[in-house]
Amino acid sequence: MAPLTALAMPVLRRLEAERAHRLAMIAMRLGLAAENPAADPPVLATTVAGLAFTNPVGLAAGFDKDAVALRALMRMGFGFVEAGTVTPRPQAGNPRPRLFRLAEDGAVINRMGFNNAGVTAFAARLAMLRRNVPVGANIGVNKEGAEPERDYPDLLRIVAPLADYVTVNVSSPNTPGLRDLQSEARLAAILSAMRAAVPDAPPIFVKVAPDLSVAGLEAVVETAVAHGIAGLILTNTTISRPPGLRGAAATETGGLSGRPLFDLSTAMLARAFLMAKGRLVLIGVGGVGTGADALAKIKAGADLVQVYTAFTYGGPQVVARIKRDLAGALKAAGVVRLADLVGAEAVSMARGV
Ligand code: FNR
Repeated sequence: MAPLTALAMPVLRRLEAERAHRLAMIAMRLGLAAENPAADPPVLATTVAGLAFTNPVGLAAGFDKDAVALRALMRMGFGFVEAGTVTPRPQAGNPRPRLFRLAEDGAVINRMGFNNAGVTAFAARLAMLRRNVPVGANIGVNKEGAEPERDYPDLLRIVAPLADYVTVNVSSPNTPGLRDLQSEARLAAILSAMRAAVPDAPPIFVKVAPDLSVAGLEAVVETAVAHGIAGLILTNTTISRPPGLRGAAATETGGLSGRPLFDLSTAMLARAFLMAKGRLVLIGVGGVGTGADALAKIKAGADLVQVYTAFTYGGPQVVARIKRDLAGALKAAGVVRLADLVGAEAVSMARGV
């Protein structure tokens, strides 16, 4: 890791959470945090939804909402990066404070509320980017004046030519009513409008909440399959508060991410794997911080994984460690292709929480 990043992480951890994030983003934009990690071991390579990945560990949405630091992020060892969530019009998001660390729990609670500069600025940045790993564009709707059946297709039209895949975010807990769009009728209407608007779009993913019921998840799986969706991303943050949280901010309103989300999101992932029966690609996200966590997601049914909270605590070193340990575990197990392990333990993991 670059010495500057190693020095900066302890300093950033002492700052108020959102200021630390802003500073890290500025450093990345200036190229101060640029890393140039070694090539990935071949055992980590995989092809998913027609896209080639040198490793399966991606950056989850919400870290770079405005696609301002993708050049630096692409050089931090991630196998892919997802920008956004972006909305049609710029919006300020919720009043601060809205981002809280629960360091004791390896967790974060956020109620950012889709603060972003809007899709016009987002698209201009993506258009200038040379993508050397797959880049996803995560789209959502504004808090005020949203018309999802109009807005998601409009956003798709704009980002489709600029991204390798597009994620439909209907699962953030911080935009009132957004998660209702996961219902069968609303999701079907949105997805069919999107398909009609851009018939030749890149692979589309739907990002799911961990708080859905089993029936709710089943409806999302079947609706996604029926509309030719490439896959699901499981999961977003949870509004639940698993027992045993120690951080003083545990009672703050918002979505919980990080280690305490691992079991819940992994159980959802395993259930989706069993329901999808190979008809959908799955991206597992929620509480991944080690190679063992990534391996568990893969065995639960993930073709790819994503990381957010552990990256904010540990920096690029976390990505390197996850990849090193995952590659080691795959080799030790005599696995030639990562894809051979996908879903290997879904049945037991689906029982989970
Ligand atoms: C998020 N996440 C998120 N997801 C999304 O689809 N759009 C977004 O804008 C955001 N914004 C966001 C902000 C902050 C501060 C956090 C912590 C998270 C959710 C994120 O992509 C991921 O699904 C969860 O955080 C679970 O993964 P981790 O953090 O446990 O690795």
